Amino acid sequence: MKAVILHSEVSQEASPDDLDTLDQVEGVARALKELGHETVNVTFSLNLKNLSAELGRIAPDVAINLVETVGGAGRLIHLAPSLLEHLSIPYTGCPAEAIFVTSGKTLAKKTLAGAGLPTPMWISSGEGADGQDFSPGRFIVKSAWEHASLGLDEHSVIHAQTSGQLLEVLRAKESVDGSEWFAERFVEGREFNVPILADGEGPRILPVSEIVFDAYPEGKVRVVGYRAKWEAESFEYNNTPRRFDFPESDHALIKQMEMLALNCWSVFGLAGYARADFRVDENGKPWVLEINANPCIAPDAGFEASARRAGLSYTDIVGSLVEDAMARRGRRSGTSVRA
Ligand SMILES: Nc1ncnc2c1ncn2[C@@H]1O[C@H](COP(=O)(O)OP(=O)(O)O)[C@@H](O)[C@H]1O
Ligand SMILES: [Mg+2]
Repeated sequence: MKAVILHSEVSQEASPDDLDTLDQVEGVARALKELGHETVNVTFSLNLKNLSAELGRIAPDVAINLVETVGGAGRLIHLAPSLLEHLSIPYTGCPAEAIFVTSGKTLAKKTLAGAGLPTPMWISSGEGADGQDFSPGRFIVKSAWEHASLGLDEHSVIHAQTSGQLLEVLRAKESVDGSEWFAERFVEGREFNVPILADGEGPRILPVSEIVFDAYPEGKVRVVGYRAKWEAESFEYNNTPRRFDFPESDHALIKQMEMLALNCWSVFGLAGYARADFRVDENGKPWVLEINANPCIAPDAGFEASARRAGLSYTDIVGSLVEDAMARRGRRSGTSVRA
């Protein structure tokens, strides 16, 4: 088969999260070749007219959608699957609608709340607390559309006495860059990732991991911020290892998070692969922090580490994604023989 690897633009002064895109492209290209497919790399930009013509010329059998930003913005990533749908090109990962709803974090939270799934209380400047009860405490201030922990560190966590105080912080943030921010109740406890991978047969939960805040001094804010994700020299990067082995006493909690992640899979109409992130509060209750549709599959990322624990190679991940894309295409065009 001929596969297009569709990826974000990488700027000249590439940041670590940009370079991550290149790692993913290289890893996926190697895996596709191993599977016997021909590959062509295409950069997804805002020039949709040129892109349509280029994709038309290439006429791929499948597109691997690795697009994480468009024109530098997280807000536009649904354009990639939208264009592929428009051009009737089968593609890996989540549908355009699921990408849009999960990448808009307050949109995702509204969907979670509407489905009765546990999402921490939040406030955004457009809507205030939106009928939710405010009580004083710690909140984390986050971008509504940007991911990869951009701009996120210990200063993002603040104590608020009133909702008015939070709204003031949000308006100040928004006046700087014009983008949308929101404040969410800070859940102090443990952090877990639940990855899901689909193949032609449906979604399968991969081993759950915990991000351990190792040797964090008393009082140091525990967040997986920009340094923890990208700055290899930092304390945060080196002290947030992943853990896969859990005592018996954690099994019920892990099962509960797996069930919640599968619920999210159907509520958001996810496909291909996704990762649900959780924090667990002092009462042992897991809260969904976010749904990562099409999570990072760089060869050293958490998703790959989980797949490896399940006995899957990198090539198996890419093979499953392609298989799932083709099975969905078959179902849409009515050529599937499965019920
Ligand atoms: N409500 C919250 N309570 C506690 N920690 C949070 C909360 N929201 C975010 N965090 C911390 O910040 C990190 C990044 O936030 P997240 O919403 O996942 O954004 P991103 O899309 O940038 O990964 C999380 O992995 C977690 O460590
Ligand atoms: Mg996250």
